[in-house]
Amino acid sequence: MLFHPVRVKGVLLHGGKGTRLKPITYTEVKQLLPVAGKAISQYCLEDMISIGITEVCIVVGSVGATDVMEHYGDGSRWGISISYAHQPEPLGIAHAVGLVENFVGSEPFVVYLGDNLVHGGIGKLRDNFIGGSFDAYVALSRVKTPERYGVAEVKDGKLYRLVEKPKEPKSNLALTGIYFLKQSVFDVIRELKPSWRGELEITEALQRLIDKGFSVGCDEITGWWKDTGTAEDMLDANRLVLDSITRNTENVSRQDRNIIGRVSIGRNVQMDERTRIKGPSYIGEGTAISASYIGPNTSIGNNCILKGVEIEDSIVMDNCTIEGEGAVSIHESLIGTGCTVVKGNGVRKGTKLIVGRDSKISL
Ligand code: TTP
Repeated sequence: MLFHPVRVKGVLLHGGKGTRLKPITYTEVKQLLPVAGKAISQYCLEDMISIGITEVCIVVGSVGATDVMEHYGDGSRWGISISYAHQPEPLGIAHAVGLVENFVGSEPFVVYLGDNLVHGGIGKLRDNFIGGSFDAYVALSRVKTPERYGVAEVKDGKLYRLVEKPKEPKSNLALTGIYFLKQSVFDVIRELKPSWRGELEITEALQRLIDKGFSVGCDEITGWWKDTGTAEDMLDANRLVLDSITRNTENVSRQDRNIIGRVSIGRNVQMDERTRIKGPSYIGEGTAISASYIGPNTSIGNNCILKGVEIEDSIVMDNCTIEGEGAVSIHESLIGTGCTVVKGNGVRKGTKLIVGRDSKISL
C-alpha cells in the first residue's frame, strides 16, 4: 500500500427506506443482508480500512439502528474507531452526508453507500483524489442500461454534467455509490432543495460543485460494481462475490467427492453422505444438511436445517428450515431469516401459503 500523509475519513451510509427489498426490509436492515456470510456494508467498511482509513462514521436511519450499532460496535473488532450519526428520516443521500460535517472536521473523506459492492478496491480513486487536488472525486462504472442511473458526462478526466436517469443518455458511465469529498460539499448541501421525490440528491450537490467551478474528478472502477437495491441485484451480488470465494472445507470431516469445487463451509456443519454441494457456494456455521443438493451460486446462513431439498442460485439467511422430502427445488430465491419452507403432506392438491405483506412468490 502507498504511504499517504493525507488522512481520509470514512462515512458509511446505512439509512434509506429499502422499499424495493420489501418484505425483507420490514424486519432487516438492507445493508446488513448477507452475501457469502458477510453483511454487504461490511465489504464496504473493509474496503475503506484497506486504504488506511481508521475513523469511520456510520449514518444510521430510523429503522434497525440498534442492529447496525450492535453489528459494528465501536470498531475495535476491526482495529478502527467507529462513531454514529442519526438520520431520523430518509431525506436523501446528500442529507445524510450533511450530518457528518462535525465528524469530518477539516479532513477529506469518502462516502460509501452501504448497499454498494465493488470489486477491485478504492485505492486508485483515493490516490487520484489526493494526488490531483480535486474538490470531489467520484467512481463511475460502465453499464448496459444507463437510463436507470445517474449518468456522467466526462471531459479530460473531469465530470462536467450529471443527469439523473436520462431518457437519452450521453454516455454509459453510471455514478456509483462512492464519493470522495471535501468541506466544500457542505455549503452546497445547505443550498439544496428537496427533489420531486422529497430527497436532497447527491447528484445535484455534485452538479452544484461543478457549476460553482470546483474541480470534480472521476474514474472508472476497475472491477465490477453492484448496487444491491433489489432481490435480483442481491442474487447478482451473491454470484459475483462467490465467484472469487476459495475452497475451505477444513471444518467438515467428510472430504469426499460430494463437495465439488470452491465451497466454503463454516464450523459445526453437519452433512450426510446423500448430500452434494457444488461451488461456488458458502455454508454458514452450525447448519445441518441431509439428502440435499446445494449450489452452485448459493449462500446458506448459520444454523439452518436443509433436508431433502435442491437449491441453487439463492441466498438463505440464518435460522431457516427447508424440508423438501426430495420434492422441493428452489432457485433464484432470497429467503429471509428464520423462514420455514416445507413440503406439504400431499393430501390436498395445491400449495399452502402463509405469506406476509409484500412477499413475492413464483409458483
Ligand atoms: P437508495 O437505494 O437510493 O434508497 P433506499 O435505501 O431508500 O431504497 P429504495 O429506493 O428501495 O426505497 O439508497 C442508496 C443508499 O443510500 C442506501 O445504502 C441507503 C442510503 N441512504 C441513506 O443513508 N439515507 C437516505 O436518506 C437515503 C435515501 C439513502
